[in-house]
Amino acid sequence: MSTTTTSVPTTKAAKAAKAATADSALFEPARLGALTLPNRLVMAPMTRNRASATGVPEPIMATYYAQRASAGLIIAEAATPNAVGATYPHIPAIHDDTHVAGWRRVTDAVRDAGGRMFLQLQHGGRVGHPETSGHHPLAPSPVPLPDTIFTPSGHQESVVPREMTEEQIGSTVADFAAAARRAVDAGFAGVEVHSANGYLLHQFLSSATNRRTDGYGGSVAHRIRFTVEVVRAVADAIGPERVGVRIAPGVTANAMREDDVDAVYPALVGELRELGLAYLHVVFADPDQPLFHTLRAAWPGTLIANPALPWPGPLPADGGRAAGERLLAAGADLIALGRSFLANPDLVARMRTGAPLNPIRDAHLMYVGGETGYTDYPTLG
Ligand SMILES: Cc1cc2nc3c(=O)[nH]c(=O)nc-3n(C[C@H](O)[C@H](O)[C@H](O)COP(=O)(O)O)c2cc1C
Repeated sequence: MSTTTTSVPTTKAAKAAKAATADSALFEPARLGALTLPNRLVMAPMTRNRASATGVPEPIMATYYAQRASAGLIIAEAATPNAVGATYPHIPAIHDDTHVAGWRRVTDAVRDAGGRMFLQLQHGGRVGHPETSGHHPLAPSPVPLPDTIFTPSGHQESVVPREMTEEQIGSTVADFAAAARRAVDAGFAGVEVHSANGYLLHQFLSSATNRRTDGYGGSVAHRIRFTVEVVRAVADAIGPERVGVRIAPGVTANAMREDDVDAVYPALVGELRELGLAYLHVVFADPDQPLFHTLRAAWPGTLIANPALPWPGPLPADGGRAAGERLLAAGADLIALGRSFLANPDLVARMRTGAPLNPIRDAHLMYVGGETGYTDYPTLG
């Protein structure tokens, strides 16, 4: 992935376009639960593998997120709510006191820099490996990831996950609720339940990965049940106004396959809509797709749209600004951008002024650690 850069406006017309840029709805304030956001640009959750081997956020993560505090909201990268849910080496966790203390450093730094943060809670399900987590992965059904997975000793074949018992389903729901309480203790304004991108909750939604014949598999009502139970438990634990949910209808990340998105997602949103949650977050949202409008009409609260930008592949020169504005015009309330925030700590200022964007350094996106490609992206002079 790489970005091209925009040129600095010099002509009269370009200067007028630049003034119009600053007037964009993206820069209007918005309410989100109890928060007032200074703009509508949300930093999407991005795993960067800079936590300790036991999932404790390192001080460098405080620097990285504080650099990006001008985002309307930061959704911090996927953090695992229990040991077995860990996906990759050096991802952060949120299930013991050392994790809370590590995250506290991050939220303090972001608050001191004027920002606001949610934490994404992610259980990997079949996207995990015993060498990484010390546990055999659990999933709705014993359907392996048809791919290799990154582990402490490099890429390895995935293992066949164990089918979760109903007791393990119940304890996982409780782990999400406990993790949400810890996230609030660590200073987060709320949490985002990750029901997207092929991880555990998404695996329950799809009949390709959920072959169960009990009350958690088969019909659409049964397949959405686990996500609904997790979200309800998290909302009961910390208050619904502190809880968002991320979904990715039809997204094929982690070899996910869904053949009934038009049935699953309206049903899921129909169950979640009564809970009074902070937001629904839709990955690869596309205003040309009828499902986007169906979900918008069905969701009474804040809708965060993460625009469908080229993936993989170069971002547009504007970093997704025009796509975001189209989604706002189509009814989204907030726009989440990932790679543009990753490469531009001061993305909001750059978009507001029409300044060029930094190119992304692909080699440093995930798995590598260190400052390079993490905290060393330049800001405008
Ligand atoms: C390095 C990297 C790590 C990511 N990690 C996560 C993650 O932890 N949780 C998640 O829901 N999505 C994750 N994503 C997906 C982003 O949140 C976002 O949906 C994706 O980058 C598309 O948005 P963009 O086109 O603005 O980059 C990741 C993306 C990248 C590039």
